[in-house]
Amino acid sequence: MANLVTSLCCVVLAAVVVAYAQRRSQLVARNQYERMASDVTMQCGSLDNDASVSWKVNGTDVKAQHHLEGPRLILTQVNLGHNGLYSCFQNPHGERRDTILLHIGIPPREPTVTCRSNTYPKGFYCSWHQLYATYIPTTFEVDVQHNQRSLEVQKDSVHKNRCHVRFPEVFSSFPYKVNVTAVNALGKASTTISFEESSIVKPDPPERVTATPIRLNPRRLEVSWHSPATWPDIDNFPLKYFLRYRPLIRDQWQHQFKFDLWSDRHNRSPAYVTAADCFLWARFP
Ligand SMILES: *[C@@H]1O[C@H](CO)[C@@H](O)[C@H](O)[C@H]1NC(C)=O
Ligand SMILES: *[C@@H]1O[C@H](CO)[C@@H](O)[C@H](O)[C@H]1NC(C)=O
Repeated sequence: MANLVTSLCCVVLAAVVVAYAQRRSQLVARNQYERMASDVTMQCGSLDNDASVSWKVNGTDVKAQHHLEGPRLILTQVNLGHNGLYSCFQNPHGERRDTILLHIGIPPREPTVTCRSNTYPKGFYCSWHQLYATYIPTTFEVDVQHNQRSLEVQKDSVHKNRCHVRFPEVFSSFPYKVNVTAVNALGKASTTISFEESSIVKPDPPERVTATPIRLNPRRLEVSWHSPATWPDIDNFPLKYFLRYRPLIRDQWQHQFKFDLWSDRHNRSPAYVTAADCFLWARFP
């Protein structure tokens, strides 16, 4: 007897759970992602082929070109204007049977990827971007290989499409291989680039560049700068600096100097030029 009661309870409970799940699936919108310019079929729940239903989008009649096939709504040549919340109602009583959030988009294409080390020999970063909008959420997976092993990849806290990698060793002769895969609900596409350590080293520009007139010498200026703060070890990995200048009245850059500042431990580097407009950059090695 007790067993029968328990079983009955179970059956009742199961029925309640099933009914609840069905009701929930009718109320909670599900996402449907479709390609731009395709013909889209939306199926009203799991209704049979001979069911008769009517559809609404955003609570009003569907005005876009479409046709109905039993429980299915078919939209032709969809574009962003077809995005919306679609609901279907079973005739003749008009109970809602399904709710679909339609998202029109395009599959991702191969992302553009570049890598650079402005913190040599600590590490490098890679950035990527999509040349075309996909209109639907797209995420990126990054895989970095060096000497047949995967390196740890850290997301940048500020830049969404950037990650950081530590050099596992310095002066390595093995190339680095970076694979970035763009993924969304409609597809995925990868770009792989390969490079040597030395080819991606590019310091940030010199900082706090100033040019000040020299007293009693109107034909001269003192130019000073600091090495980029991002460069971690200026003593062991010294930078070279390039400076060019032009008088304001000239269009052409006239002269160019190169500085090797091997012994500048204070990162402060005066130079004298007879000009008004200076341009300074750093290079390694
Ligand atoms: C439905 O509403 C959304 C959000 O307001 C809108 O972007 C979309 O164009 C509407 N869709 C249709 C078919 O009217
Ligand atoms: C890049 O990564 C994706 C996803 O993990 C993979 O499918 C693809 O084969 C990889 N490409 C190369 C060249 O390794």
